[in-house]
Amino acid sequence: MNQTSTKSNLSTMEKGIVVELIRGSTNWTKVVEDIVKLEKKTFPKHESLAQNFDAELRKRNAGLLYVDADGETVGYTMYSWPSSLSASITKLAVKENRRRQGHGEALLRAAIDKCRSRKVQRVSLHVDPTRTSAVNLYKKLGFQVDCLVKGYYSADRDAYRMYLDFDDSI
Ligand SMILES: CC(C)(COP(=O)(O)OP(=O)(O)OC[C@H]1O[C@@H](n2cnc3c(N)ncnc32)[C@H](O)[C@@H]1OP(=O)(O)O)[C@@H](O)C(=O)NCCC(=O)NCCS
Repeated sequence: MNQTSTKSNLSTMEKGIVVELIRGSTNWTKVVEDIVKLEKKTFPKHESLAQNFDAELRKRNAGLLYVDADGETVGYTMYSWPSSLSASITKLAVKENRRRQGHGEALLRAAIDKCRSRKVQRVSLHVDPTRTSAVNLYKKLGFQVDCLVKGYYSADRDAYRMYLDFDDSI
């Protein structure tokens, strides 16, 4: 077995399981194709990883989780832990016709768990403040706004930097 899957603990999530994408798994090509399509539809070109997805996935200290619903890839998230101090959520997207079914929350929870297992103290991310659904989701799972980073995405597009600190005592 060269892929791991985690049943979501969310009762509100419609059918689907969160799966970790493992290089060399039999479904690698199909899942990466699905994700590149979704990436292109969801994010503007300059923000999209679609052109160099493979290189991103080859990076050490990075991972990708996706939701498999009966063979359909309905969403994905990427995360990385460049140092032992902090980790980042670098991508999160769910297919438009599959939103509001709990998949985004299940993916984010699973990515946070992966970061927690790396023993980092903080998880950070950047998000366009106009992406209300995403900002709400991050706040729902405990992320706080650190600051507004002017011109983060482009000259006229800013980002919130958000963070979640793990409680040392847990
Ligand atoms: C953000 C995104 C991943 C959420 O995925 P989703 O599967 O629809 O989210 P869920 O159904 O799990 O919703 C979880 C929470 O997110 C928030 N949320 C999701 N959709 C929302 C909406 N349309 N309006 C307001 N809040 C919303 C809510 O807090 C919701 O919790 P609730 O159901 O208790 O209200 C999805 O909207 C998406 O792909 N957006 C485009 C890409 C994007 O913005 N990515 C983030 C880039 S950093």
